[in-house]
Amino acid sequence: MKKLIYFIGIVFSLVPLAACANDNVQINENQKVKMILDLDTGIDDALALAYALADPKIDLIGVVASYGNVTMEESVSNTLELLDMLDRKDVPVFRGADRAIGENTPFEVMPISRFIHGDNGIGDIQIAASPRVADKQDGVDFMIESAKKYGKDLIIVAVGPMTNLNEAVQREPNFKNMVGNLVIMGGALIVDGNVNNLAEANIFQDPVSANELFRSGAPVTMVGLDVTQRTLLTKKDTKVWRDLGTTSGKAYADMTDYYIDAYLVNAPELGGCALHDPLAVAVAVHPDLVKVLPLHMRVGTSDEDWGRTIGINGKMNDPDPNVSVCVDVEVDKFVNSFMDLLTNLFKAN
Ligand code: RIB
Ligand code: CA
Repeated sequence: MKKLIYFIGIVFSLVPLAACANDNVQINENQKVKMILDLDTGIDDALALAYALADPKIDLIGVVASYGNVTMEESVSNTLELLDMLDRKDVPVFRGADRAIGENTPFEVMPISRFIHGDNGIGDIQIAASPRVADKQDGVDFMIESAKKYGKDLIIVAVGPMTNLNEAVQREPNFKNMVGNLVIMGGALIVDGNVNNLAEANIFQDPVSANELFRSGAPVTMVGLDVTQRTLLTKKDTKVWRDLGTTSGKAYADMTDYYIDAYLVNAPELGGCALHDPLAVAVAVHPDLVKVLPLHMRVGTSDEDWGRTIGINGKMNDPDPNVSVCVDVEVDKFVNSFMDLLTNLFKAN
């Protein structure tokens, strides 16, 4: 209830992301955006990867693998296999964090992640193993090096835990001023979380890193459950991919059906599976898809509010909010364009 009153109070201050106070969002319509994806390669990460390869506005320069839906090493192999299947062996994959900041024990995949994404992260379907291996360079160093090279032309989209992005901000103090934008899939401002009432899965994995990232001064756009749970896919859509008769069309249809089935059990009220990670990638290059609320945000790190993403009471009137929180999305525009782009990509592979 508190959340609802809060939302009604602020709804009039919404602005399109393309026109918000975040001057770092500079999308030139005629130019491709250099992009790095930070993936914990489960099923919607796989869909986000395909979207990034299919959208003509994106030049995907690399993928950094994270723990989350799977272990970091499984994220590396899933990503390599998907890239190979989509005929993009040119895209390098880097190792990122294998556990949350300050964590001593090895990461274990949460049962809820296994339920949603399968034991292997991609709906337990088998695709051809990749002869490639991860790049030798550390993933966070790759992010920093790319920010130095491309500056404001670089956007990093993180759709797993925020451990790598926070590490980049901490390792290179000027990183936050160099990079064009950091778009994250994570958090929930005006709806319940998906791990528990307060927390969304990516933030829940490492709220300390997410909190440090939010408060670092880096340009952050939060694509959370507030918008991602409105953009849905059904088996009618995946049939289109299966009917193409191609390897990638079948693989993506099968893994997405697994994801849809999990959603039918876990969140039947949605009526489909949520396109969390693909929406974050799309928002990065098509900011007009969403309306945002610029807000001073923090992340809960106590036992009572672990992983909660919420505005800071004492900073409601301060200038220069630290996060552009997406609160509305053009659903049909995004889903239709997502389907067109991926169908074309799968036709060819
Ligand atoms: O809460 C949804 C997010 O958690 C998505 O990024 C999904 O892939 C998982 O990582
Ligand atoms: Ca993810």
